[in-house]
Amino acid sequence: MRIALRVVVFLVGAWLAGSIAVAQTSSHAVDAEGHQWWQHAVFYEIYPRSFADSNNDGIGDLKGIASKLDYLEDLGVDAIWITPCFPSPQVDFGYDVSDYENIDPMYGTLADFDLLANEAKKRGIHIILDFVVNHTSDQHKWFLDSKSSSTSAHRDWYVWRDGKGPGEPPNNWVSTFGGSAWKFDPVTNQYYYHYFYAEQPDLNWRNPAVAGAMFDVTRWWYKRGVAGFRLDAVDTLFEDPDLRDNPILRPGTNHFGDPIEQDKFNTKLPEVHEVLRGLCKVADKSNAVLIGETWTADVAELNRYYGEGSNELQLPMDFLFTMVNKLSPAEFRKQIAAVNGASGWPTFVISNHDIVRSYDRYGDGEHNDQIAKLMAALYLTLRGTPIMYYGEEIGMKTTPPTRREDVKDPIGRTGWPEEKGRDGERTPMQWDGSENAGFSKGTPWLPVPATSKTHNVADEAKDPNSVLEFYKKVLKLRHANLALLEGNYAAVNESDANVLSYVRMYRDRGVVVALNMSNAPQKVTLELKATGFASAKSLLATGESGAKGNEVSLEPYGVFIGQLAK
Ligand code: NOJ
Ligand code: CA
Repeated sequence: MRIALRVVVFLVGAWLAGSIAVAQTSSHAVDAEGHQWWQHAVFYEIYPRSFADSNNDGIGDLKGIASKLDYLEDLGVDAIWITPCFPSPQVDFGYDVSDYENIDPMYGTLADFDLLANEAKKRGIHIILDFVVNHTSDQHKWFLDSKSSSTSAHRDWYVWRDGKGPGEPPNNWVSTFGGSAWKFDPVTNQYYYHYFYAEQPDLNWRNPAVAGAMFDVTRWWYKRGVAGFRLDAVDTLFEDPDLRDNPILRPGTNHFGDPIEQDKFNTKLPEVHEVLRGLCKVADKSNAVLIGETWTADVAELNRYYGEGSNELQLPMDFLFTMVNKLSPAEFRKQIAAVNGASGWPTFVISNHDIVRSYDRYGDGEHNDQIAKLMAALYLTLRGTPIMYYGEEIGMKTTPPTRREDVKDPIGRTGWPEEKGRDGERTPMQWDGSENAGFSKGTPWLPVPATSKTHNVADEAKDPNSVLEFYKKVLKLRHANLALLEGNYAAVNESDANVLSYVRMYRDRGVVVALNMSNAPQKVTLELKATGFASAKSLLATGESGAKGNEVSLEPYGVFIGQLAK
């Protein structure tokens, strides 16, 4: 049903333009606006351990994901990004890969992957895998060979250096997961470098053999039908060849007890961009998309990740958006405007497996469901590609462990109690109100939060006012409405301190979105003069919110999305 609707939208767009345009830089199909598939797609991140467990061992798996494809299709998802499901000792829950071209037995087999890919394809859902480019597991055959002797074939595939002196690492760099970033290996009396855990040695991207092997990995998966990759930790690919010490930002220590450093000489080196251009060239041959885990400080940095004409990352994630940690129209306005002025297509994220869920970040403890709907209405109606995180659509809450001995994420143990780790945002998906929330009949690898009784798919699907039903409605609108799919973005009523309002316009069509970020009712007189429109008629609104002419009334945290008329 939804697919048919999308085809109609595409054809209408093409008809309006007179013909189907073709991108100048490649032969990929584009619509009347020159947009490629991933610009209209809604992406959905799945943490496979926690999504659905088909064999009841307490850990989610690929068959589990396959069993939920109908749910994802019905929700309005066009692409799933599966975080690493490759063989791994699971020190960092898959971000320590020991074989890039296989599936970890705990998640299934390559045959299960093929089945999942086929079933997804039938539903028009693309599969994006997570490519851990900066490091491998210390159990990867490349590293096992590398550490075996200083003359081994893979020695130079990793970053090995002599210490400064006895017991002294080569420089002051600290791992982002705590402790020195260097680990001494007595076999060859040298240190190897690891930006993350010691079990995640950094690859030496200055070695062309590394680049060759890693590019081949992507080719291998493209042949298996993968539609793109989310590239892990791209900031960290290169290190200063002279290993200069990082500057100390201020006295004191971080929550791991390490000095507070600026990662000046081990992140965001210009050489990263050459690798991205290479990966992009390979991806382009398969019409694939590259999403970047890009922790940018400003839009200038974001632009560098797009490259020239998006010849690096098509979708570098805008984490600055996730840093607007309060419901502030002024702050969101500023950030949205900045990203709209960037050189590539915006990508919006509000939650993922490394950060506190949006439900808690924005929730006030009293109106969390309304606020969850407000946030959905915001980032799913902006110009750009949204990446959802599993469970966000039912209002899942961050549930961190309360005792150190229950922590699974290693940084939660080393950093306890200040750093509780990331278990809280990785709890099992809440499918129903039963004991293990329908995730597994076995004991789930992380406890199921008590909120599964009130926030779960089965119950919310029956409640027209649930967070889930609101997500479905916004996503349906987003896929069907040309102004939301293709339109530009213009802020309106920019001096309003409580309500964030903007217009999306495509040719003679316009949609207005008004979001009340306060806990009091608000009235807004839409300033539409510059848009050529005069009034708005409701397409989707929460509770009592609505419009008469250009007067919008919003309940506390209310949402109004309206079709504009002249
Ligand atoms: C970023 C991933 O999102 C995170 O989960 C992981 O721990 C690090 N990269 C290291 O791969
Ligand atoms: Ca399982």
